[in-house]
Amino acid sequence: MNMLVTGGCGFIGSNFIRHVLANRPAVRVFNLDLLTYAGNMENLSDVEKDPRYAFFKGDINDEKLVSAILADPGIETIVNFAAESHVDRSIMGAAQFVKTNVQGVAVLLEAARGRGIGGERFLQVSTDEVYGSLPLNSTDLFAETAPLHPNNPYAATKAAADLLVLSYVRTFGMDAVITRSSNNYGPRQHPEKFIPLFITNALEDKECPLYGNGENVRDWIYVRENCAGILAALERGRRGEIYNLGGRSEQTNTHVARAIMELTGRTERLVRPIQDRPGHDLRYALDVTKARRELLWAPVMSFDNGLKETVEWYRAHPEWVARAKSGEYQQYFEKNYRGRS
Ligand code: NAD
Ligand code: TYD
Repeated sequence: MNMLVTGGCGFIGSNFIRHVLANRPAVRVFNLDLLTYAGNMENLSDVEKDPRYAFFKGDINDEKLVSAILADPGIETIVNFAAESHVDRSIMGAAQFVKTNVQGVAVLLEAARGRGIGGERFLQVSTDEVYGSLPLNSTDLFAETAPLHPNNPYAATKAAADLLVLSYVRTFGMDAVITRSSNNYGPRQHPEKFIPLFITNALEDKECPLYGNGENVRDWIYVRENCAGILAALERGRRGEIYNLGGRSEQTNTHVARAIMELTGRTERLVRPIQDRPGHDLRYALDVTKARRELLWAPVMSFDNGLKETVEWYRAHPEWVARAKSGEYQQYFEKNYRGRS
Protein backbone atom coordinates (compact mmCIF):
# COMPACT_ATOMS: atom_id res chain seq x y z
CA MET A 1 0.00 0.00 0.00
CA ASN A 2 1.27 3.49 -0.88
CA MET A 3 0.62 6.29 1.61
CA LEU A 4 1.15 10.01 1.04
CA VAL A 5 1.98 11.85 4.26
CA THR A 6 2.07 15.64 4.02
CA GLY A 7 3.98 17.67 6.60
CA GLY A 8 5.94 14.57 7.58
CA CYS A 9 9.08 16.49 8.59
CA GLY A 10 7.28 18.24 11.46
CA PHE A 11 6.73 17.06 15.01
CA ILE A 12 3.75 14.71 14.77
CA GLY A 13 4.24 13.79 11.10
CA SER A 14 7.79 12.53 11.67
CA ASN A 15 6.72 10.48 14.67
CA PHE A 16 3.82 9.10 12.58
CA ILE A 17 6.05 8.08 9.65
CA ARG A 18 8.43 6.27 12.00
CA HIS A 19 5.43 4.53 13.63
CA VAL A 20 4.02 3.39 10.26
CA LEU A 21 7.34 2.12 8.89
CA ALA A 22 7.97 0.19 12.09
CA ASN A 23 4.50 -1.31 12.41
CA ARG A 24 3.22 -1.77 8.84
CA PRO A 25 5.80 -3.65 6.77
CA ALA A 26 3.59 -3.63 3.65
CA VAL A 27 3.23 0.17 3.57
CA ARG A 28 5.41 2.53 1.51
CA VAL A 29 5.44 6.15 2.70
CA PHE A 30 5.81 9.21 0.44
CA ASN A 31 6.42 12.38 2.40
CA LEU A 32 5.58 15.79 0.88
CA ASP A 33 6.89 18.64 3.02
CA LEU A 34 7.69 22.27 2.23
CA LEU A 35 10.34 22.42 4.96
CA THR A 36 9.10 25.63 6.51
CA TYR A 37 10.78 26.80 9.73
CA ALA A 38 8.91 23.90 11.44
CA GLY A 39 10.01 21.19 9.04
CA ASN A 40 13.27 19.41 9.74
CA MET A 41 14.82 16.64 7.61
CA GLU A 42 16.80 15.60 10.68
CA ASN A 43 13.55 14.40 12.24
CA LEU A 44 13.62 11.44 9.85
CA SER A 45 17.35 10.89 9.37
CA ASP A 46 17.08 7.38 10.83
CA VAL A 47 14.60 6.24 8.14
CA GLU A 48 15.71 8.23 5.09
CA LYS A 49 17.54 5.24 3.60
CA ASP A 50 14.61 2.88 4.11
CA PRO A 51 13.52 1.65 0.65
CA ARG A 52 9.90 2.02 1.78
CA TYR A 53 10.35 5.78 2.34
CA ALA A 54 10.64 8.64 -0.17
CA PHE A 55 10.76 12.40 0.36
CA PHE A 56 9.45 15.18 -1.91
CA LYS A 57 10.16 18.79 -1.05
CA GLY A 58 7.16 20.88 -2.02
CA ASP A 59 4.00 22.77 -1.13
CA ILE A 60 0.56 21.20 -0.66
CA ASN A 61 -0.67 24.31 -2.52
CA ASP A 62 1.22 23.21 -5.65
CA GLU A 63 -1.61 21.59 -7.62
CA LYS A 64 0.62 20.14 -10.34
CA LEU A 65 3.06 18.58 -7.92
CA VAL A 66 0.31 17.13 -5.72
CA SER A 67 -1.50 15.63 -8.73
CA ALA A 68 1.74 14.15 -10.08
CA ILE A 69 2.55 12.53 -6.73
CA LEU A 70 -0.96 11.11 -6.43
CA ALA A 71 -0.84 9.64 -9.93
CA ASP A 72 2.52 8.01 -9.72
CA PRO A 73 3.23 5.64 -7.99
CA GLY A 74 -0.44 5.26 -7.24
CA ILE A 75 -1.20 6.57 -3.80
CA GLU A 76 -4.06 4.88 -1.97
CA THR A 77 -4.05 6.83 1.28
CA ILE A 78 -3.41 10.50 2.14
CA VAL A 79 -2.68 11.67 5.67
CA ASN A 80 -2.50 15.45 5.95
CA PHE A 81 -0.35 16.85 8.75
CA ALA A 82 0.91 19.88 6.78
CA ALA A 83 -0.08 23.06 8.55
CA GLU A 84 0.99 26.23 10.22
CA SER A 85 0.54 25.00 13.78
CA HIS A 86 1.41 27.69 16.32
CA VAL A 87 -1.34 29.86 17.86
CA ASP A 88 1.02 32.73 18.75
CA ARG A 89 2.23 32.99 15.16
CA SER A 90 -1.39 33.02 13.92
CA ILE A 91 -2.03 35.99 16.21
CA MET A 92 0.93 37.82 14.62
CA GLY A 93 -0.48 37.18 11.13
CA ALA A 94 -3.18 34.85 9.81
CA ALA A 95 -2.50 34.95 6.05
CA GLN A 96 -0.08 32.01 5.89
CA PHE A 97 -2.44 29.99 8.10
CA VAL A 98 -5.31 30.52 5.66
CA LYS A 99 -3.04 29.65 2.76
CA THR A 100 -1.68 26.39 4.14
CA ASN A 101 -4.39 25.20 6.51
CA VAL A 102 -7.41 26.03 4.30
CA GLN A 103 -6.32 26.55 0.69
CA GLY A 104 -3.75 23.77 0.93
CA VAL A 105 -6.40 21.33 2.13
CA ALA A 106 -8.65 22.42 -0.75
CA VAL A 107 -5.84 21.63 -3.20
CA LEU A 108 -5.29 18.17 -1.67
CA LEU A 109 -9.02 17.39 -1.74
CA GLU A 110 -9.39 18.54 -5.36
CA ALA A 111 -6.35 16.57 -6.48
CA ALA A 112 -7.70 13.44 -4.79
CA ARG A 113 -11.15 14.01 -6.34
CA GLY A 114 -9.58 14.63 -9.75
CA ARG A 115 -8.21 11.12 -9.70
CA GLY A 116 -11.75 9.82 -9.43
CA ILE A 117 -10.94 8.14 -6.20
CA GLY A 118 -12.98 5.25 -4.97
CA GLY A 119 -11.20 3.23 -2.36
CA GLU A 120 -8.73 5.99 -1.53
CA ARG A 121 -8.82 7.29 2.01
CA PHE A 122 -8.09 10.87 3.11
CA LEU A 123 -7.28 11.54 6.75
CA GLN A 124 -7.27 15.13 7.96
CA VAL A 125 -5.28 15.69 11.14
CA SER A 126 -7.20 18.28 13.13
CA THR A 127 -7.24 19.62 16.66
CA ASP A 128 -9.40 20.00 19.77
CA GLU A 129 -8.94 23.76 19.41
CA VAL A 130 -11.79 23.83 16.86
CA TYR A 131 -14.25 23.37 19.77
CA GLY A 132 -13.03 26.47 21.59
CA SER A 133 -12.72 26.74 25.35
CA LEU A 134 -14.35 24.97 28.32
CA PRO A 135 -14.81 26.71 31.68
CA LEU A 136 -11.99 26.14 34.16
CA ASN A 137 -14.13 24.91 37.01
CA SER A 138 -16.09 22.22 35.23
CA THR A 139 -15.69 18.57 34.34
CA ASP A 140 -17.33 18.98 30.92
CA LEU A 141 -15.63 17.34 27.96
CA PHE A 142 -15.96 18.05 24.25
CA ALA A 143 -17.46 15.16 22.25
CA GLU A 144 -17.29 15.08 18.44
CA THR A 145 -20.84 16.47 18.32
CA ALA A 146 -19.86 19.70 20.13
CA PRO A 147 -20.35 22.83 18.01
CA LEU A 148 -17.33 24.44 16.40
CA HIS A 149 -16.23 27.56 18.26
CA PRO A 150 -12.63 28.40 17.33
CA ASN A 151 -11.23 31.39 19.20
CA ASN A 152 -7.91 32.12 17.50
CA PRO A 153 -6.91 32.35 13.83
CA TYR A 154 -5.05 29.01 13.91
CA ALA A 155 -8.10 27.20 15.31
CA ALA A 156 -10.40 28.99 12.85
CA THR A 157 -8.38 27.77 9.87
CA LYS A 158 -8.38 24.20 11.21
CA ALA A 159 -12.17 24.36 11.69
CA ALA A 160 -12.57 25.67 8.13
CA ALA A 161 -10.51 22.77 6.81
CA ASP A 162 -12.62 20.26 8.75
CA LEU A 163 -15.79 21.67 7.18
CA LEU A 164 -14.23 21.51 3.74
CA VAL A 165 -13.28 17.85 4.25
CA LEU A 166 -16.78 16.96 5.46
CA SER A 167 -18.28 18.75 2.44
CA TYR A 168 -16.24 16.49 0.13
CA VAL A 169 -17.63 13.46 1.94
CA ARG A 170 -21.24 14.62 1.53
CA THR A 171 -20.96 16.10 -1.96
CA PHE A 172 -18.52 13.80 -3.72
CA GLY A 173 -18.64 10.66 -1.61
CA MET A 174 -15.02 11.04 -0.63
CA ASP A 175 -13.72 8.48 1.85
CA ALA A 176 -12.41 10.94 4.42
CA VAL A 177 -11.92 10.77 8.19
CA ILE A 178 -10.93 13.50 10.65
CA THR A 179 -8.98 13.08 13.89
CA ARG A 180 -9.00 15.85 16.49
CA SER A 181 -6.28 15.43 19.04
CA SER A 182 -5.51 17.34 22.18
CA ASN A 183 -2.13 18.98 22.87
CA ASN A 184 0.74 16.68 21.87
CA TYR A 185 4.10 16.50 23.61
CA GLY A 186 7.18 14.33 23.12
CA PRO A 187 10.42 14.14 21.12
CA ARG A 188 11.01 16.50 18.16
CA GLN A 189 8.42 19.18 19.00
CA HIS A 190 9.54 22.61 17.88
CA PRO A 191 10.77 24.71 20.84
CA GLU A 192 8.26 27.48 20.07
CA LYS A 193 5.63 25.31 21.84
CA PHE A 194 5.10 25.39 25.59
CA ILE A 195 6.64 22.10 26.80
CA PRO A 196 9.81 22.05 24.62
CA LEU A 197 10.27 25.80 25.15
CA PHE A 198 10.24 25.36 28.92
CA ILE A 199 12.45 22.24 28.85
CA THR A 200 15.08 23.75 26.55
CA ASN A 201 15.11 27.14 28.27
CA ALA A 202 15.41 25.49 31.67
CA LEU A 203 18.31 23.32 30.46
CA GLU A 204 19.99 26.53 29.27
CA ASP A 205 19.16 28.30 32.59
CA LYS A 206 16.99 30.82 30.74
CA GLU A 207 13.68 32.26 31.95
CA CYS A 208 10.50 30.38 31.03
CA PRO A 209 7.65 32.75 30.04
CA LEU A 210 4.32 31.64 31.58
CA TYR A 211 1.26 33.32 30.08
CA GLY A 212 -1.19 35.02 32.48
CA ASN A 213 -1.82 33.32 35.80
CA GLY A 214 -0.78 29.86 34.56
CA GLU A 215 -4.17 28.37 35.44
CA ASN A 216 -5.09 27.45 31.84
CA VAL A 217 -5.62 23.72 31.37
CA ARG A 218 -4.53 21.53 28.47
CA ASP A 219 -5.30 17.81 27.94
CA TRP A 220 -1.83 16.43 27.12
CA ILE A 221 -1.32 13.41 24.86
CA TYR A 222 2.01 11.73 24.27
CA VAL A 223 2.76 12.04 20.56
CA ARG A 224 3.15 8.30 19.90
CA GLU A 225 -0.33 7.66 21.26
CA ASN A 226 -1.78 10.23 18.88
CA CYS A 227 0.13 8.53 16.03
CA ALA A 228 -1.35 5.14 17.00
CA GLY A 229 -4.81 6.74 17.10
CA ILE A 230 -4.35 8.33 13.67
CA LEU A 231 -3.30 4.97 12.20
CA ALA A 232 -6.28 3.28 13.87
CA ALA A 233 -8.64 5.91 12.41
CA LEU A 234 -7.07 5.43 9.00
CA GLU A 235 -7.57 1.67 9.17
CA ARG A 236 -10.78 1.34 11.16
CA GLY A 237 -12.52 4.73 11.11
CA ARG A 238 -15.86 5.03 9.36
CA ARG A 239 -16.17 7.25 6.30
CA GLY A 240 -17.10 10.84 7.13
CA GLU A 241 -16.59 10.40 10.89
CA ILE A 242 -14.63 12.52 13.33
CA TYR A 243 -12.58 10.92 16.13
CA ASN A 244 -11.36 12.74 19.23
CA LEU A 245 -7.90 11.56 20.34
CA GLY A 246 -7.34 13.06 23.78
CA GLY A 247 -4.76 12.14 26.39
CA ARG A 248 -7.25 12.22 29.32
CA SER A 249 -4.51 14.00 31.21
CA GLU A 250 -5.55 17.52 32.12
CA GLN A 251 -2.84 19.71 33.65
CA THR A 252 -2.62 23.38 34.49
CA ASN A 253 0.27 25.18 32.85
CA THR A 254 1.64 25.97 36.32
CA HIS A 255 1.74 22.26 37.16
CA VAL A 256 3.54 21.45 33.89
CA ALA A 257 6.04 24.27 34.47
CA ARG A 258 6.81 23.03 38.01
CA ALA A 259 7.22 19.44 36.81
CA ILE A 260 9.68 20.58 34.13
CA MET A 261 11.72 22.58 36.66
CA GLU A 262 11.91 19.51 38.87
CA LEU A 263 12.90 17.14 36.04
CA THR A 264 15.58 19.52 34.78
CA GLY A 265 16.84 20.19 38.31
CA ARG A 266 16.03 23.92 38.14
CA THR A 267 14.19 26.12 40.63
CA GLU A 268 10.79 27.69 40.03
CA ARG A 269 12.48 31.08 40.00
CA LEU A 270 13.14 30.47 36.29
CA VAL A 271 9.38 30.55 35.61
CA ARG A 272 8.43 34.10 34.75
CA PRO A 273 4.75 35.13 34.55
CA ILE A 274 4.20 37.46 31.57
CA GLN A 275 1.30 39.22 29.90
CA ASP A 276 -1.34 36.75 28.72
CA ARG A 277 -1.93 35.59 25.13
CA PRO A 278 -4.91 37.49 23.63
CA GLY A 279 -8.01 35.27 23.44
CA HIS A 280 -6.22 32.58 25.48
CA ASP A 281 -8.52 29.54 25.72
CA LEU A 282 -9.01 28.50 29.34
CA ARG A 283 -9.41 24.77 29.15
CA TYR A 284 -9.36 21.98 26.57
CA ALA A 285 -10.56 18.46 27.40
CA LEU A 286 -11.75 15.71 25.08
CA ASP A 287 -14.26 12.89 25.43
CA VAL A 288 -12.56 9.90 23.74
CA THR A 289 -15.42 7.38 24.15
CA LYS A 290 -16.01 7.12 20.41
CA ALA A 291 -12.36 6.38 19.57
CA ARG A 292 -12.21 3.78 22.35
CA ARG A 293 -15.36 2.07 21.08
CA GLU A 294 -14.85 2.24 17.30
CA LEU A 295 -11.08 2.33 16.90
CA LEU A 296 -10.25 0.15 19.92
CA TRP A 297 -7.75 2.84 20.86
CA ALA A 298 -6.95 4.29 24.27
CA PRO A 299 -4.15 6.45 25.63
CA VAL A 300 -2.11 4.63 28.27
CA MET A 301 1.05 6.72 28.84
CA SER A 302 0.98 8.63 32.15
CA PHE A 303 1.86 12.30 31.93
CA ASP A 304 4.66 11.84 34.48
CA ASN A 305 6.38 9.12 32.43
CA GLY A 306 5.78 10.87 29.10
CA LEU A 307 7.24 14.12 30.43
CA LYS A 308 10.25 12.31 31.88
CA GLU A 309 10.97 10.68 28.48
CA THR A 310 10.50 14.01 26.74
CA VAL A 311 12.94 15.84 29.03
CA GLU A 312 15.48 13.06 28.48
CA TRP A 313 15.13 13.34 24.70
CA TYR A 314 15.80 17.10 24.75
CA ARG A 315 18.69 16.65 27.18
CA ALA A 316 20.22 14.10 24.78
CA HIS A 317 19.81 16.27 21.64
CA PRO A 318 21.39 19.69 22.31
CA GLU A 319 22.45 20.07 18.65
CA TRP A 320 18.92 19.49 17.38
CA VAL A 321 17.73 22.15 19.84
CA ALA A 322 20.46 24.62 18.89
CA ARG A 323 19.55 24.32 15.21
CA ALA A 324 15.81 24.66 15.91
CA LYS A 325 16.48 27.79 17.96
CA SER A 326 18.79 29.43 15.42
CA GLY A 327 18.05 31.83 12.56
CA GLU A 328 14.40 32.83 12.22
CA TYR A 329 13.56 31.58 15.72
CA GLN A 330 15.40 34.48 17.33
CA GLN A 331 13.30 37.07 15.47
CA TYR A 332 10.10 35.18 16.28
CA PHE A 333 11.07 35.00 19.95
CA GLU A 334 11.82 38.74 20.11
CA LYS A 335 8.57 39.63 18.40
CA ASN A 336 6.36 37.36 20.49
CA TYR A 337 7.84 38.00 23.92
CA ARG A 338 9.29 41.51 23.84
CA GLY A 339 7.59 43.97 26.19
CA ARG A 340 5.28 41.40 27.81
CA SER A 341 6.89 41.18 31.25
P1 NAD B 1 4.63 21.26 12.95
O1 NAD B 1 4.50 22.73 12.85
O2 NAD B 1 5.68 20.66 13.83
O3 NAD B 1 4.88 20.65 11.48
C1 NAD B 1 4.20 21.09 10.35
C2 NAD B 1 4.91 20.48 9.12
O4 NAD B 1 4.18 20.87 7.95
C3 NAD B 1 6.34 20.98 8.94
O5 NAD B 1 7.19 19.91 8.59
C4 NAD B 1 6.23 21.97 7.77
O6 NAD B 1 7.42 22.07 7.02
C5 NAD B 1 5.10 21.35 6.97
N1 NAD B 1 4.39 22.33 6.13
C6 NAD B 1 3.94 23.56 6.50
N2 NAD B 1 3.34 24.16 5.44
C7 NAD B 1 3.41 23.28 4.40
C8 NAD B 1 2.96 23.32 3.05
N3 NAD B 1 2.32 24.39 2.57
N4 NAD B 1 3.18 22.24 2.27
C9 NAD B 1 3.83 21.15 2.74
N5 NAD B 1 4.30 21.07 4.01
C10 NAD B 1 4.07 22.12 4.83
O7 NAD B 1 3.18 20.73 13.34
P2 NAD B 1 2.76 19.52 14.26
O8 NAD B 1 2.74 19.95 15.67
O9 NAD B 1 3.51 18.31 13.87
O10 NAD B 1 1.24 19.35 13.82
C11 NAD B 1 0.89 18.53 12.71
C12 NAD B 1 -0.62 18.60 12.51
O11 NAD B 1 -1.29 18.20 13.69
C13 NAD B 1 -1.12 19.99 12.17
O12 NAD B 1 -2.12 19.87 11.17
C14 NAD B 1 -1.72 20.49 13.47
O13 NAD B 1 -2.79 21.37 13.24
C15 NAD B 1 -2.22 19.19 14.09
N6 NAD B 1 -2.27 19.16 15.56
C16 NAD B 1 -1.16 19.46 16.30
C17 NAD B 1 -1.24 19.40 17.69
C18 NAD B 1 -0.02 19.66 18.56
O14 NAD B 1 -0.15 19.64 19.77
N7 NAD B 1 1.15 19.87 18.01
C19 NAD B 1 -2.45 19.06 18.32
C20 NAD B 1 -3.56 18.77 17.52
C21 NAD B 1 -3.45 18.81 16.15
P1 TYD C 1 1.05 25.90 23.10
O1 TYD C 1 2.13 24.89 23.22
O2 TYD C 1 1.31 27.11 22.28
O3 TYD C 1 -0.24 25.11 22.57
P2 TYD C 1 -1.78 25.64 22.43
O4 TYD C 1 -1.82 27.10 22.49
O5 TYD C 1 -2.09 25.12 21.06
O6 TYD C 1 -2.54 24.96 23.52
O7 TYD C 1 0.62 26.38 24.54
C1 TYD C 1 0.19 25.48 25.54
C2 TYD C 1 -0.22 26.28 26.75
O8 TYD C 1 0.95 26.93 27.28
C3 TYD C 1 -1.20 27.39 26.43
O9 TYD C 1 -2.13 27.52 27.51
C4 TYD C 1 -0.35 28.63 26.34
C5 TYD C 1 0.79 28.35 27.32
N1 TYD C 1 2.09 28.96 26.97
C6 TYD C 1 2.79 29.70 27.93
O10 TYD C 1 2.35 29.87 29.08
N2 TYD C 1 3.98 30.26 27.57
C7 TYD C 1 4.51 30.13 26.33
O11 TYD C 1 5.62 30.69 26.05
C8 TYD C 1 3.80 29.35 25.35
C9 TYD C 1 4.33 29.18 23.96
C10 TYD C 1 2.58 28.78 25.72
